[in-house]
This record gives sequence, structure tokens and C-alpha cells, in this order.
Amino acid sequence: MPFEFDSHMLQNRYHLPLKVPAQFSPRFPSNPPPIAEYEITWIDKSLHDWLLIYDFVISHAEVFFRHPEDNDSGPIHVDGNNFDDHVKINYVYSEKPSLMNWYLPKKGQPPESRKTEIGTDYLFSKPENCSLIFSAQIGQPSLINSGLLHNISPVLSPRFCFSFVLANVKTTTLISWDEAVKAFGLFAIDNSSPNK
Ligand SMILES: [Fe+2]
Repeated sequence: MPFEFDSHMLQNRYHLPLKVPAQFSPRFPSNPPPIAEYEITWIDKSLHDWLLIYDFVISHAEVFFRHPEDNDSGPIHVDGNNFDDHVKINYVYSEKPSLMNWYLPKKGQPPESRKTEIGTDYLFSKPENCSLIFSAQIGQPSLINSGLLHNISPVLSPRFCFSFVLANVKTTTLISWDEAVKAFGLFAIDNSSPNK
């Protein structure tokens, strides 16, 4: 599908690469399934401490794995059961570049509720029921909006994605895109051109 630059992407609500002043040391699973729980206690204390400055905690952590032989774009989905603009911090490790994509549902084509293999809720959309609006290569880490329709393109080399849901330490509510950008804005890496 062709991808065209549009000025609104300068202020996109989908992807913000970050230079975080904290450590993350990934534990790569052996024989990885496509999706697995990642122990929150495995995540470096310095990352937890940095998030706590903003009253954020990691409420759920997962690791995703894709292999070129999958030759699969992965389902287009929203994490959770509604369009809520909530964010995750994702660390992607892949020898060759890979793309994450975001979509808008077409009129009259609402996504359907489903459950992942690890029992979490998501909304699913058929490709023909939505339109691509943004694509980006995810960094180490990136802030990503997982409360909108998204998937990843087929990968060219094995790809691990460590994915952390952020919540407020006091209220446990998920962190919105606007809250996260307000907190992390100083640590944003220049994001003025898409697909880099
Ligand atoms: Fe997702």
C-alpha cells in the first residue's frame, strides 16, 4: 500500500520515539510463542523509578515475537475493548527494520470483540473495514498508541517487541496519549519524518 507524507503527521498521535534516561535489559525468551507474558519484576529498577517520577507504573508486560516465515501482517486490532487512546512503551529488537501501522475504521464497520491466547481483550478489524493512516519503525523505546487500530507489517528478520502498559500508580487508570506526551515530551527524539 503506498504511504504518503501528510503535515498532520508532525504531531501524530500514534508513535513517539523516546530517549529514556533509564535502563532496560531485555530477557529474550527461547522458543518464543507469538505472544507471552513478561514478568514485570524482570524490568530494570531504573525504568520503574523513572516512570514513578510521573506517577506511572507498568501494569502489564508482554513480549511479542514474529519471524519472516510467518509472512503475516498480524491482526489489525485495538488493545482492550474500546478506542481509548491509551499508551504503551515498546522496545523492538529486530536486525532489519520493521513497521507498525495504524488504521481508522471505515464508517459502519466497527471492529469485533475478541480475546488473545493469554486471555486479554481486544477489538479486531478486517483489513477491508479500515484505512491505513500512519506507519513507523518502533525504537528502543517508543511511546505507541495502542488504544487505536494497529498491527505490524510482515517482518524481514526475527522481531521481538517488549511491550509495557502504563497506568497511574494511584488510580490504576491507563495513561492516555496526551498525559504521556506531556510527561515524556522532553525525551522525544525528532519524529518529523515518517517511516524512519
Ligand atoms: Fe496491540
